[in-house]
Amino acid sequence: MVPREFIEELKARCDLEEIIRTYIPLKRAGANLSGCCPFHSEKTPSFTVFPDKHFYCFGCGAGGDVITFIMRQENLDYMGAVEYLANRAGLTVPRDGERRDEGGRRTRVLEMNREAARYFRAMLFSPAGSEAMAYLTGRGLDGATIKRFGLGYAPASFGGLCDHLHKLGYTDEEMVTAFLCGKSRKTGRPYDYFRNRVMFPIIDVSGNVIAFGGRVMDDSKPKYLNTSDTPAFKKSRNLFALNYAKGNCSEQMILCEGYMDVIALHAAGFLCAVATLGTAITAEQARLMTKYTQRVVISYDSDEAGQRAAQKALRILGEVGLETRVLRMNGAKDPDEYIKNHGADRFRQLLANSVTGFAYRLDNVLAQHDPAIPEEKIKASAELCRIIAGSYSHVEREVYLAEAAKRLELPVDVLRNDVEREAKRLSRERRQQESRDAQAAAAGFGDRVNPDMAKNMRIARAEETVLGLMLLYDEHRAAVASGKIELTEADFFTAFGRRVFSAVLALETSDGGFDVGLLGAQFSPEEIGRIERMRLGRRELSENGISVLRESAALLREDAQRRNAEQGGALSAVERRRAALAAAKEQKTKG
Ligand code: GTP
Ligand code: MN
Repeated sequence: MVPREFIEELKARCDLEEIIRTYIPLKRAGANLSGCCPFHSEKTPSFTVFPDKHFYCFGCGAGGDVITFIMRQENLDYMGAVEYLANRAGLTVPRDGERRDEGGRRTRVLEMNREAARYFRAMLFSPAGSEAMAYLTGRGLDGATIKRFGLGYAPASFGGLCDHLHKLGYTDEEMVTAFLCGKSRKTGRPYDYFRNRVMFPIIDVSGNVIAFGGRVMDDSKPKYLNTSDTPAFKKSRNLFALNYAKGNCSEQMILCEGYMDVIALHAAGFLCAVATLGTAITAEQARLMTKYTQRVVISYDSDEAGQRAAQKALRILGEVGLETRVLRMNGAKDPDEYIKNHGADRFRQLLANSVTGFAYRLDNVLAQHDPAIPEEKIKASAELCRIIAGSYSHVEREVYLAEAAKRLELPVDVLRNDVEREAKRLSRERRQQESRDAQAAAAGFGDRVNPDMAKNMRIARAEETVLGLMLLYDEHRAAVASGKIELTEADFFTAFGRRVFSAVLALETSDGGFDVGLLGAQFSPEEIGRIERMRLGRRELSENGISVLRESAALLREDAQRRNAEQGGALSAVERRRAALAAAKEQKTKG
C-alpha cells in the first residue's frame, strides 16, 4: 500500500488537465473542459474534465481521477499508474521491500541509457571511432552538430558496452530490459546489441535519453537498428529531436522521415525539424505535436513510398486539428540530400512554396485522372468531392470547391451539390458509428461493472443515490458511519453496491479518512468510471440534503427486509449482519 499522504501529494503535483492535454486537445465549456474521448471513437466531444480534477465521458462511461486516467491511457494497474505519475512529477514512491516495479525500472533504464550515450560518445572520439568519425564528417556533419546531437559510435566488439555497464553495477537483466544488450541463446551470456554502428541518441522533451538508433556505415542490412519499446520508451509516442525543436516551432514544425534529414536541417538552421522513430506517424505523435505547434510541413522522401506516407500523415495530422502543408522536392531523394546539393536558401524556398494538404491532394488526383478525358474527369470529380466533404469547416469547403471547380472546369454549384450529398452521407455514417461504439461501450461496461443492476432498476437507482451522496458530501458519509442513518452492507441489493459501500465506509473509519482518490486501489478503471457517474449524477441535482439520503436508505432497508421475508422465515442475513455489527460495536466501546 502507498501511504495516502503520498497519493495526495502526487495528485496535487500532477494536474489532470495538463496531463489530459498531452493526449487530446481540450476546449473550455463553461466551468468544464471538453474534448473527444481518448477511450472510444467519437467526433462530437462527450469527454468532460471537471474543475474538481475528475473526468467523465458521457459517451462510454470512462471516468475517474488522474490515476484512473493514466491506468486506462497507459494500460497500467493502479501501482503502475502511481509509479508513472511519480516519475513524471519527480517523486519517489515510498515503499517497503525490494520489489522492482515499472517505475523503478524506468529510472534504471534512463540512467543506464545516459551511461550508454556517454560511452558511445567517448568511443566516437577515441581512436576506435576514427572510421565512424570519418563517416559522419563525410556526410557533412561538423563537430558542433555531432556534439549537439550527442552522436556516438558503438564499437564492433560483442562486450564493450556490457562490460562497461557491469562495472557500473547494472545487471544482465537490466541491460536486456533497456534493449542495450541481447542474451545469447547458447551461452546465456549478454552481448552488445548495437555493434559497429554510428549511434543517434533519442532524447525526450525532459532531456532523458530514452532510446537509440544505430546506423551501419556501409550498405549492409539492416541499415538502422532502433531500440524496441522498453519501460522508458514507446516509439509511437516520441519524436526524434523534439527536445531541440520544442522551443523553435510555435509557428511551424518540419516533419521528416529520417534522423539524418533532421540533423542536416538543424545544422542548416532549420531548428523546427523532427522525425518519427522509424515508423509511420501515429495519432499519439500527432497529438504530441499539437502541444508545440499549429502547423506541420510534411517533408518526406520524394520517392513513391515517401509520398504514400505523406498522404497518410496528412490524414493523421488533420484529424487532431493541425494545419498541414506538404513540401515538394525535385532533384533529391530527401531533405538531407537536397540541402547538400542545393543549399539552405533553396530549401527555405521550398518551405515557402509548400502547398496545403488540399492542394497536394488535388494535384495527386489530377495527376492520376486526366480531366481532358470525360470518364477520367468524372472520376476525378467524385474523388475530390469525397475529399472536400471530409472537411468540417464550411469556409474550408467553399475555398476548396472554388479551387476544384477551376481545375476541373466545372461550375461550382454542380460540385457543391455533390459535396453536400457526400457530406450528409459521411455525417450519417459517423453518427451511426459513434452511437454503435457508445452503446457497445456502455453495454459492455454496464454488464461487467454491475450485472445485478438490471434485475431491479428502482432499487439499484436508490443505491446509486445513497452512494453518490456519500461520495460527494462529508456530512452524509459521517451520518452513515456514525449510525445516525442506519445502513449496512447487507442492505445493498447489488454486489457492486455492497463493495463500493464497504470500501467507502472502511476508508471513512480509517485513520486518514475518506478520499475518493484512494478507491482506485480497489476498483478497476471501468468500476471507477461507474463510481464517477454516481458522483456526477448527484452533483447535477439540487436536492442533495440529508432527507434524500434518509429516504433512499429506508428504501434499501425495506427492500432488504422484503427479500429476506421472501426467502422464508429463517433469520435473515441482514439481521445476522446487523447483530454482528452491534456486537462488534459493543466490544469496541468496552475494549
Ligand atoms: P540515410 O540513408 O543515412 O540518409 O538515412 P535516413 O535517416 O535518411 O533514412 P531513410 O530515409 O532510409 O529511412 C528513414 C528512417 O526510417 C530512418 O531514419 C530510420 O528511423 C528508419 N529506418 C530506415 N531503415 C531502417 C531499417 O533497416 N530498420 C529500421 N528499424 N528502421 C529503419
Ligand atoms: Mn537519407
